Amino acid sequence: MTTTVSDVHESPAPQPFPEGWYFVASREELASGKLIHKTWLGQEIVAWSDEQGRVCMAEAYCPHLGSSLAPEVGTRICAGRLVCPFHGFEYDTSGQCVATPYAPPPRTARLKLYETRDYLGMIFGWWGLGGRPAQWQLPEAPEREDGWSDIRLNTLRFPGHPQETTENSVDLAHLRYVHGYDNVHRTARLKIDGAYLRSCFDFMGTFRLGGAITMPFDVASITHVHGLGFSQVDFEERSIGYSARLWVLSTPVDGTSIDLALATHVGNLERPKRPVLGLKFLPLPVRLKLMNRFTLWKATKYVEEDVVIWKRKRYVKRPRLNRSDGEIVAYRRYCEQFYEDRGRLDDRLLAGHG
Ligand code: FES
Ligand SMILES: [Fe+2]
Repeated sequence: MTTTVSDVHESPAPQPFPEGWYFVASREELASGKLIHKTWLGQEIVAWSDEQGRVCMAEAYCPHLGSSLAPEVGTRICAGRLVCPFHGFEYDTSGQCVATPYAPPPRTARLKLYETRDYLGMIFGWWGLGGRPAQWQLPEAPEREDGWSDIRLNTLRFPGHPQETTENSVDLAHLRYVHGYDNVHRTARLKIDGAYLRSCFDFMGTFRLGGAITMPFDVASITHVHGLGFSQVDFEERSIGYSARLWVLSTPVDGTSIDLALATHVGNLERPKRPVLGLKFLPLPVRLKLMNRFTLWKATKYVEEDVVIWKRKRYVKRPRLNRSDGEIVAYRRYCEQFYEDRGRLDDRLLAGHG
């Protein structure tokens, strides 16, 4: 049985840069005078932090006479200020030019800034349609709890789009065919509220290590999506008995490729229900660290299975869906709010054609 989805027929192909919060760098990467320079949603940007931990993310061009502020051109961070390599103008983390080597700083010399947010040491920048300010905020970060590991990050780059990668959160059918999970089932209705989407499902499976060792897993997961650049998956693993969080942070680079940053941390490993590769004999901090390394490595392996599909697929504007794919329709409607022509879409829905 095949149904078609009339709303989705007229949707535009995803534009390369949906509005939202996108990962820039970890606080560690910005520490101790480091300057980040990258292409981020088609823009050349720089980011750094000062000694007080204030972060600045700005367009990577100097408002004086337009020098690139890339480190390879000679830009330096000196006492928390960015120093332009062309004439030595200095900018503090508010973006203001506060000194030049040969005259008082012009008051109008200000870097073009992006709004940033620190979420558990992961720095996000806001990319607004037409440069407009943040339309929503990321959620409050969970408290740093005792009994949890540090957060580790790993980034994959490949041709892709954040709408396509985030669609996996509601595409339960692929979990069996791409990842080999068993007994995948939804545990609550899909929730959508503005820029927030929640998808809850359980699954089971078996980790295989080198063909010799197998470990069954039995997982309850809740995925919290806050725009197409931020997904947090909360896991409760019931076989060993521990918790994990996985962040899937999809960031368009140049309109063709995305950087998919994966970040994990694990907790509640004090009393594993089953021996886990001898971890039980190690002190808790070591146990957490090793388990988190394993979790990030395994998450990367699973995502690499998706990448095989993602980097070769094309966007299907008019998906031919079966009965159990209904949430993909809801997801596609949710995504419309992040693109330029949302006004046109709202009009169409209000007019009763949606
Ligand atoms: S262009 Fe940057 S100081 Fe002149
Ligand atoms: Fe997947």
